[in-house]
Formats: sequence, C-alpha cells, structure tokens
Amino acid sequence: MISTAVWKAKQATRRLVTAWERAGGRGVAAELLRLARELVGVPLALARELLFDLRRGIRTRGFVRNEDHVAARSVGGDPTFYQPIGLRPLKEALATVPVDRDRSTLVDLGAGRGRAVLLAAEAGFERVVGVELDERLAAEAEQNVRRWHRRAPRGVLPEVTVVHGDAATAPVPSGPLVVTMFNPFGATTLDLVLGSLCTARRDDPDPAWVVYVNPVHEAGFAAFPRFTAHARGRDWVVHRLAPAPGTVTADS
Ligand SMILES: C[S@@+](CC[C@H](N)C(=O)[O-])C[C@H]1O[C@@H](n2cnc3c(N)ncnc32)[C@H](O)[C@@H]1O
Repeated sequence: MISTAVWKAKQATRRLVTAWERAGGRGVAAELLRLARELVGVPLALARELLFDLRRGIRTRGFVRNEDHVAARSVGGDPTFYQPIGLRPLKEALATVPVDRDRSTLVDLGAGRGRAVLLAAEAGFERVVGVELDERLAAEAEQNVRRWHRRAPRGVLPEVTVVHGDAATAPVPSGPLVVTMFNPFGATTLDLVLGSLCTARRDDPDPAWVVYVNPVHEAGFAAFPRFTAHARGRDWVVHRLAPAPGTVTADS
C-alpha cells in the first residue's frame, strides 16, 4: 500500500512538473483539475466493482493484509498484499496488445481472488491461468471461477484455471502469451519472473507481452534488453518480449 501510494504521489508530481514545463501556471491548474476529477471518479469505480461481483455471484472485493503469510512462502520474499485490480486499467492496457485472443494464453501473476483472470476470460482469451501463492486466496479464486462458469452464457468457454504457486517458479506457456501483473511483488521477484520469461521464451517464435498495472518496479525491465515498452497509460505499462535473436519467426 505504501509503495503504491508513493508511486501514485510520484506520478502526480511528475504530471504537475510536466504541465508546468509545457504551459506554466495554467498547465498546472488544468492538471490539478484533472487530478481532482480522477479522485471524484473513485466512488464510481468502486460502485462498478461492486456490480461486477454482484452480477457474477462472486467476491473479488476487499483488501487482505496477507503479505507476511505469503513472504514466508515465496522465493523472492517481497509480496504485496491482496488488493483487487481496477476494471479500467486492465481493459485499457489489454486493448493495446496486438494478439489474437482466441488463440492466446493469458497468465495473471498474483491472481488474488481472480478478478483479472475473469476479466481476461470475458475478454476472449482462449486459455487463462491465475497463479496465486496465498492458498486461501487461490481457493477463493477457484470458487469464483466455478461460480462464474455456472452463470456464463452457453457456447465456447475459455479454459480458466487457478494454480496455487509462486510466480517466480511458475511454468511459462508457449505460443501467443500475455502476462498480467497488478503490482503483486517487489523488485526481487519481478527480476526472477522476467528472467524466467526470457529463458522459457528463448526459442518461441511468438512475442510475449507483459501488462504491468501500477508498475512500481518497472525499472527492473532495463536488465532484460529483449523487453521494450510498447504502450503506456496513466497507471499501467505494456512491455513486449521479442523472440531471441536468430529465432525463426512468422515474419522472418
Ligand atoms: C495486488 S494483488 C493482485 C490482484 C489480482 N491480480 C486481481 O486480479 O485482482 C497481489 C497478489 O499477489 C499475490 N502474490 C504476492 N507474491 C506472489 C508470488 N511470488 N507468487 C504468486 N502470487 C503472489 C498476493 O498474495 C496477492 O494476492
């Protein structure tokens, strides 16, 4: 929570500084107005999240201060606690990722109660996997998935699973892949995750995409030159992992 608050404060300061550099006092006033509007939008976003749960008969809302419990079990030892992802940022970020969703896998690292997992399932991904290290939350996410399945419209449904495990050691699927993270852990685990993605995807001809919401530790991507920033929003960034040099790709 503190790292997110610090990151958000830094973002707001950066926006105000940029506004000052571009348009002086007027720019700052306009940016302050935008920040105030965003703050006013918070209750509306919370109401949307409540509706999201009620319509599906699930519960993804609420904070769970589980970081000590999870830290003792994780390789990196730097988890953040459970806080559900907002509906807007994930939707916005996924819209920038150029994959055929109906033949792609999405893996949400630090899946919590499974909100991103279900958003991805509804967004048309062929296969969705959530990885969660807190066994109680993993069980709640599985229950949410079962309830969601019961209410889902008939037809072709994606394969949705939640795995109890550590993101740092989770298997990396081959083929078209999108990995999502909502600031689930610190720099140590992020480094392990990015390293594992680079190694596992060495010979894969498809690029992989990492959607990072609240990208508090984004600086960690710099250690892996195969990653490049592809798109950026107010509170998210999408990185593209290029196939390793020499890999035969569809366009080579
Ligand atoms: C901010 S919440 C993410 C919420 C979630 N993605 C959603 O859809 O709402 C972070 C989650 O990451 C989990 N977590 C932390 N470290 C982890 C690790 N190394 N492996 C897997 N899960 C982890 C925490 O237990 C917590 O549930």
